This record gives sequence, structure tokens and C-alpha cells, in this order.
Amino acid sequence: MGKIEIVLNSLPMSGGDGPFSYSKNSNLQRRTASLLKEKIDKLIIGKLDAKTLISDSNNRFLIADLGCATGPNTFFLVEDVIKSVETSLESNSLKTTKPEFLVFFNDLPKNDFNTLFTSLPQDRSYFAVGVSGSFYGRVLPQSSVHIVVTVGATHWLSSVPKEVLDKSSKAWNIGKVHYSNAADEVVKAYGEQFGRDMEKFLEARAKELVSGGLLIVGMCGIPQGMPFSDLADSIMYTSMADVLMQMQSEGLISEEQVDTFNIPIYSASPEEVKVLVEKNGCFIVESMELMDPTAWLKQPMNEEDVRQWMVCIKATMGSLFINHFGDHLLDDIFDRLTVKLVKLTDKVETSYRDKVMLFFALKRK
Ligand SMILES: C[S@@+](CC[C@H](N)C(=O)[O-])C[C@H]1O[C@@H](n2cnc3c(N)ncnc32)[C@H](O)[C@@H]1O
Repeated sequence: MGKIEIVLNSLPMSGGDGPFSYSKNSNLQRRTASLLKEKIDKLIIGKLDAKTLISDSNNRFLIADLGCATGPNTFFLVEDVIKSVETSLESNSLKTTKPEFLVFFNDLPKNDFNTLFTSLPQDRSYFAVGVSGSFYGRVLPQSSVHIVVTVGATHWLSSVPKEVLDKSSKAWNIGKVHYSNAADEVVKAYGEQFGRDMEKFLEARAKELVSGGLLIVGMCGIPQGMPFSDLADSIMYTSMADVLMQMQSEGLISEEQVDTFNIPIYSASPEEVKVLVEKNGCFIVESMELMDPTAWLKQPMNEEDVRQWMVCIKATMGSLFINHFGDHLLDDIFDRLTVKLVKLTDKVETSYRDKVMLFFALKRK
């Protein structure tokens, strides 16, 4: 199986709508995304000439959510976007006819589109289309969409950097599952992979968005120059590696399996993204900032919060583990991980969690 196929097969979130599915365990992502609502509203009202765009496109307004998963978060997000566009049109002194909204729901081919489409809100005010394929390539027609949104998806790399899996390379990431606390060469390989991926992402969106359209992105971020090991997620990745090594010592998994398992997630700094946007040349930066994704947490993180966090992570990253280690070990891996992390609640609570969500909005020139 090729590298690309591995990622395409292993990324999608846990499907269906059962108790362990992504659709039932994505409330952390929902709370995080809700922090973006106000910003998105302001951007659409202040920076998008909705009236002109709609009259140029036969009274249609096209929205795409890239990396939509199975819902319901994607439905809340597109409804918020539609409301903002409607508010923008209402505040326009000239009367306009209500546009028809068309929404493209995009995700990887193995995403559970059946669950997504069977749970589409009955009372929705838009037409819905499913678009399967990687957003690191073209997924939409040329100059067709007015707003592209993507939340919690573009930190997923298109693949694990190849050097990290190469035994003869200095970036061979032995004993670790991520670039956190890893050799400089590993950090560099992940950063370069993100650069190549984001370049392709921007190129594709530049072709798909109409002039004046908006690209709105929420993803994992980090202040420039901060080592990933300062972040709470680093404790999780280190604990994952510990759990896998413990299971290896018990003969449950092989050394080869542990050494070749890496999580293809990258947290970018605003500065890194700005350089790529400038290189692309097709967009104006309307907003670029780091936010606290846990701003909604009212009190210090407790053991129950850590357990909930792991349920969400299992629904989100579970398929990576299933693909690599097999279905039969998933519960064991996550039970051990949860026990480990619950004991580290204080450490998680005191580690850096402030500005680890990157929000940016670009306008197509
Ligand atoms: C954590 S989920 C976020 C889902 C949803 N946006 C939300 O906020 O709940 C990330 C989604 O991005 C999708 N994804 C990752 N890489 C992708 C790619 N290259 N192309 C399309 N979708 C991708 C995954 O399959 C997954 O459904």
C-alpha cells in the first residue's frame, strides 16, 4: 500500500452515531469552534461583498466545509456562516432577493458520508452536496465557491514525512509517535511536510474561490519559536509512546510496529502560514491570530475533563491506531492511556494551553 493510501484509509473519524462515534464525541471540537463564531460573523459582515458576489452568480451563494467529518459540528458551522451572510445582506440598504445557498461537504473518501447525510438538519435552508477527496488537491470547480471554511482539519498532514520512517535517516523517529520532544531533524521533517501540504492547499483554494471570496481556517497552532514539548498535547503524545512501548514489552505489538507509528499532525505558527500565503500570492490576509481553544473551560482541568478529552481523542485518532495495530488493541491502548493521563492531570493543567488554536482568514484577490 502506498503512503498516500495509508493516510487516506486511516484518517477518517470514528463513523456512525453510536456511543463511541465522532458524531457523539466531538463536543470538545464544537466548543472550540464556537469560539470562532463571532470572528467569522465579523469577517463575513465586514470583509465580504455578499451582494455583489450573489448578483454575479445568478442569486446563488456557495459554501464549502473542508474536513467536515460526520456532523453535527459541520451543520452548526454552515448555519452560522449562512446567518452571517443573511445578516450582511439585510444590513445592506438596497433590498435583495434571498439567495439560494449550496453547501459542499468535503472529507476523505473513507469518511462516513452516510451518517453525515442521514443526519442533515430537516429544516435546513441550503442544498447539500457531498465531495469526497483530499483537500490537498482540487475538490471543487474553478472559481465557484464564495466561502470555504475548515475547522480542525488542516493540521492533519497528507502523510507522515517519509524521512521519519526511514531507518537510515537522522529523522528516523524511533521510540516516539510525534515530533514533540523528538530530534531536530524530526521537527524539521514535519515542518517541511506542513509547508508542502499548505502550499498545495492554498493553490487549490486559490483556483476554487471566486475573486472576493473568503477562506476561513481554524487549526492547531503554536506561538513562533515555542517548543511543542511545552504544550499539554505533548504529555499525551509522550504517554502514547510509553503505552505502546509497555505493550511491546508485553509482546502485544512488535518493535517494528512501534517504531513505524507516527501521528501526522502539525501545529503551525502564524508566521509560518504568512510566509506560505505570501509565496502563493493570491490572497490578502484579513485575520491571522492565535486563540485559546479552552477559553470555555470555567475551572481548572480535573480528572473527568482528562477522561472526556481521551474519549474525544479516541473518536478522532482511533482509526490511525486501528489501521496500524489492529481493531482488537484499540480499547486496551486507550484504557492504558487514560489511566496514565488521569494521573498526570496536574501536569496537563499547568502546561501551556493558551494560544494553541490558529485562526486565519484570507480573501481571494
Ligand atoms: C477532527 S475532524 C474535524 C471535523 C469537523 N470539522 C469538526 O470541527 O468537528 C478532522 C476531519 O478532517 C478530515 N481530513 C483530514 N485530512 C483531510 C484531507 N486531506 N482532505 C479532506 N479531509 C481531511 C478528517 O477525515 C476528519 O473528518
